[in-house]
Amino acid sequence: MLSFDENKTISKLADRYEKKRGACVEALKMVQRWRGWISDEDLNDVARCLDMSADELDGVATFYNLIFRHPVGWHTILICDSVSCWIMGCSALRDHLEKELHLKLGETTADGRFTLLPTACLGACDHAPVIMIDGDLHGDLSPGKLSEALASYR
Ligand code: FES
Repeated sequence: MLSFDENKTISKLADRYEKKRGACVEALKMVQRWRGWISDEDLNDVARCLDMSADELDGVATFYNLIFRHPVGWHTILICDSVSCWIMGCSALRDHLEKELHLKLGETTADGRFTLLPTACLGACDHAPVIMIDGDLHGDLSPGKLSEALASYR
């Protein structure tokens, strides 16, 4: 449940928009920065602040692949599985990550450090295969280069 201050911050944010719902993506991102992910309870609180139904706001939250509706690890790894990345070998990267981190796609490591999730095109097809770690794009990857990139997040 969001605190009184958190609710107040979101209401202030919503006041900047002609319609409160205009603040919905920014509000979701804000809650995710505070909590790491968006629980049903938090989603209901945000929806109430923005005069939206929880279903409407959930539709927004689940549309964006950088909004997490389930708990995630300290670092999120999004692996692109759209066509360019698929052709350029994203499945080899996924296999490599699963082996190196001892998890399967959609899971979080036992120490809570990494979550591995699939995603649609990250908009960097000319650098396929591509992954995003905590919002940082890593492209032109091979399994070796991926291990090097991952090292800085350990
Ligand atoms: S298909 Fe992977 S970034 Fe576009």
